[in-house]
Amino acid sequence: MPKPVGAITRGTTGANRLRRADRWLAAVHGRVLRAADRPLVVDLGYGASHTTTLELFERLRAIRPDVEVVGIEIDPARVALARPYEREGLSFRLGGFELPVARPPDVVRAFNVLRQYGEADAWHYWDLLTGRLAPGGVLVEGTCSETGHRAVWVGLDGSGPRTLTFSARFDAFERPSDLADRLPKTLIHRNVPGERVHAFLKDFDHAWAVSAPYGAHGLRQRWLASVGVLSARWPVPRTPPLGGRARWRLGELTLPWDALG
Ligand SMILES: C[S@@+](CC[C@H](N)C(=O)[O-])C[C@H]1O[C@@H](n2cnc3c(N)ncnc32)[C@H](O)[C@@H]1O
Repeated sequence: MPKPVGAITRGTTGANRLRRADRWLAAVHGRVLRAADRPLVVDLGYGASHTTTLELFERLRAIRPDVEVVGIEIDPARVALARPYEREGLSFRLGGFELPVARPPDVVRAFNVLRQYGEADAWHYWDLLTGRLAPGGVLVEGTCSETGHRAVWVGLDGSGPRTLTFSARFDAFERPSDLADRLPKTLIHRNVPGERVHAFLKDFDHAWAVSAPYGAHGLRQRWLASVGVLSARWPVPRTPPLGGRARWRLGELTLPWDALG
């Protein structure tokens, strides 16, 4: 077997850490799985435990009962640890960015993997991974805090990055720009004056500040009001699956990548 592409990095993970991204994936891209003949999902770099891959499997089986999920890890010891948890439709194998699976995956989730590489590598591996997707497939690449209460992820298809999503528990930040430390590797160095992502986070903080009175009805109402303020200046999708109250009320906000990247 050829050497897996990539490098072993820290294996930090935790139960329910990726719940926010899984929920978004199921709601926004569930149709990709529903439409596929034999839906295949890869969880790339699942870390020191099989837990988040098993959670992804269970969440996606709820919307497509025959979905197959393959956890891929570059650390052979972590593959050995996960193997006892295999079951029908869920398997674990050694590999890297080359994605050693039998057919192009419909979905690839890679969380807290690329942040441990350089910025140039991150762009390169985006290309490599999206080039391996089945037609209409999606890569969800993101970063989150240790508990998963603050997360940012990018949705990519065969033509590149398409969406950027911010997601946070309402008690896990003081102002929206606190999420900047979870920006993808390809954007984090661009969070400086003069760059769009910086202007956006500044506007988001302003929208949050002027929406403070809505906090009397709870932070969810304040978030919803902030999104309303932001929508006047930024192309916030306002209808499902990417936008609308049902998504925003979760402490989530998705924008087209082109608006920020
Ligand atoms: C920080 S853990 C993330 C675990 C899990 N995805 C999460 O978010 O909780 C990153 C894992 O990715 C693995 N990894 C890094 N580069 C990889 C690659 N190219 N292919 C497969 N796994 C990789 C590392 O060995 C490590 O176990």
